[in-house]
Amino acid sequence: MDWRINSMEDYNQKYEKALNNPDAYWGDIAKSFDWFKEWNSVRSGSIQDADMRWFDGAQLNITVNCLDRHLKTQPNKEALLYIPNDPSEEATRLTYKELHAEVCKTANMFKSLGVKKGDRVCLYMSMVPELLISVLACARLGAIHSVVFGGFSAQALAGRIEDASCTLVVTNDGGLRGNKTIELKKITDDALAMKECACVKNVIVHKRAGNEVSMKEGRDHWWHDLMKDMDTQCDPEVMEAEDTLFVLYTSGSTGKPKGIQHTTAGYMVWAAYTFANVFQVNKDDLYWCTADIGWITGHTYITYGPLLNGATTVMFEGVPTWPDAGRFWDIVDQYKITHFYTAPTAIRALMGCGNEFVDKYKLDSLKVLGSVGEPINEEAWHWYDEHVGKKKCPIVDTWWQTETGGILISPLAGITKLKPCHATLPLPGVHPVLMNEKGEEIMEREAEGNLCIRNPWPGMVRTIYGDHERFKNTYLSAYPGMYFTGDGCKRDAEGFYRITGRVDDVINVSGHRIGTAEVEDAIDQHPEVIEAAVVGFPHDIKGQGIYAYIIISANAGDNIQKEVLDTVTKFIGPIAKPDKIQVVKGLPKTRSGKIMRRILRKIAAHEFENFGDTSTLLDPSVVDEIKEGVL
Ligand code: PRX
Repeated sequence: MDWRINSMEDYNQKYEKALNNPDAYWGDIAKSFDWFKEWNSVRSGSIQDADMRWFDGAQLNITVNCLDRHLKTQPNKEALLYIPNDPSEEATRLTYKELHAEVCKTANMFKSLGVKKGDRVCLYMSMVPELLISVLACARLGAIHSVVFGGFSAQALAGRIEDASCTLVVTNDGGLRGNKTIELKKITDDALAMKECACVKNVIVHKRAGNEVSMKEGRDHWWHDLMKDMDTQCDPEVMEAEDTLFVLYTSGSTGKPKGIQHTTAGYMVWAAYTFANVFQVNKDDLYWCTADIGWITGHTYITYGPLLNGATTVMFEGVPTWPDAGRFWDIVDQYKITHFYTAPTAIRALMGCGNEFVDKYKLDSLKVLGSVGEPINEEAWHWYDEHVGKKKCPIVDTWWQTETGGILISPLAGITKLKPCHATLPLPGVHPVLMNEKGEEIMEREAEGNLCIRNPWPGMVRTIYGDHERFKNTYLSAYPGMYFTGDGCKRDAEGFYRITGRVDDVINVSGHRIGTAEVEDAIDQHPEVIEAAVVGFPHDIKGQGIYAYIIISANAGDNIQKEVLDTVTKFIGPIAKPDKIQVVKGLPKTRSGKIMRRILRKIAAHEFENFGDTSTLLDPSVVDEIKEGVL
């Protein structure tokens, strides 16, 4: 891999080359992958036309690059180290050869149920090896995977299944997380009973928890029954560079979740390139990303990125606080993890449990630490550095999004100078710009503005599944010719970037994106709620918490708060439950009926001064009432 950056000087050169001659830069990098057919052009299309294409004309299969390619050089290297929830249960290890065989068998199993190129397959599973295997099996066949995080409710699952018209759902009987069992099959049954899911023909159930489940004749099949007769060879489907690899749903500021659509070749190059350069994982290292495969981090940095690089990826089934708050560190010492990648919310939660849980571990195998998903605050950064990294491990604060496919702004481990809480510098191929309120680019170096990216990069989202107009409006219209991230950002005198958080109506709760409109819609489903307004507020552990203001009818009972929580759990899932629910008589609205969220956000944060211009409020007295009742 001669494209691995090895010094700051090298970074500067490569950054310039990628900026000035992107075709040559990315064309050279792409040559180190296996293709059935080479591309006609490296880059084509444009943001202006909402048509970004990379490696057009090329044909490939990403699993050939994740698996087959390594069979020639390192068939017996561990590809996957799987650590079960229960510490007394033994880890599972799969070599590249074994993983290849499992992926082929699984692809053959999907094929036996009629799955073919272009079909959508929903994976609603807990963190079992079969999830990672199913992702790759879909890619082997050219079927589009849509992984739905196991914390979403039946209703949320049904909406995602319907949106992509999935024909197959793969699930587990139950997911093991700490001392809880998440009844995934039961939730799947509830979803499939809804009219939205008429498209589903088959369900495969992988047995993990051993809990009782019901199996519907003709529709439901046990994984272990079907797998018995499957062959360990499965020819990879020939995919065009811009064929869709996967869809992953994420929340926006309005409307229902968006199916973010990524394509094959560009995503592959970006996943491999960013993994290699940001983490600098070497041959004998052991890399562990603690995310769930239900989120983009688990797609790019548990599954595709590490395997494309021939690394060993660690997958953990459980939670950081069970059996106790030392579980992560116990795993690090036991397996000698060298690279550890987690979210600030986990760091803050563990920090809050007391240093005794971390200080008793050696953690001397660690070389690199990573952070992702939300801004990391100063205190958490230093705790991570001192107690986990023992002040000898660089922390890569990686900024990116579901839409970006992979990391865009981050230090490169051991290469870039670190600055706490700063994502620092863009990767080669990424051209960040800060825009002001008037839609102009801010040219000063030291500045704050809305973060946009000029020029497409290979791993960029191509569209929203089934709704290209929405795609254009959401990302490409606010600042014509650029991709708008939805994030606010500061740039310092050295040109280092610091992400300050969302500037739209998206809340980042424990690193999970939740749209305020979605939570409001869910709350509104309660028959006694007349109106709801949801905002984020600063939360010590979660980064942001969810604050809901609700207007209720005279018929509402004393239990309304609890009922609202249940309603949100039903329509979205427990991850979207408000932390605080304040019953109010009115909401601050403008004469045109728009809720002034700015005021609600301030009150939720207990900032009672400087509400700005309130002269357009229809009834300014509601503000005082809300202030008085703040929680
Ligand atoms: O606000 C940014 C925040 O997470 C958002 C993207 O969320 P999602 O698509 O769920 O992907 C999360 C994993 C990549 C961004 O718009 N975010 C992500 N990483 C950081 C961050 N905020 C600050 N610093 C980060 N390192």
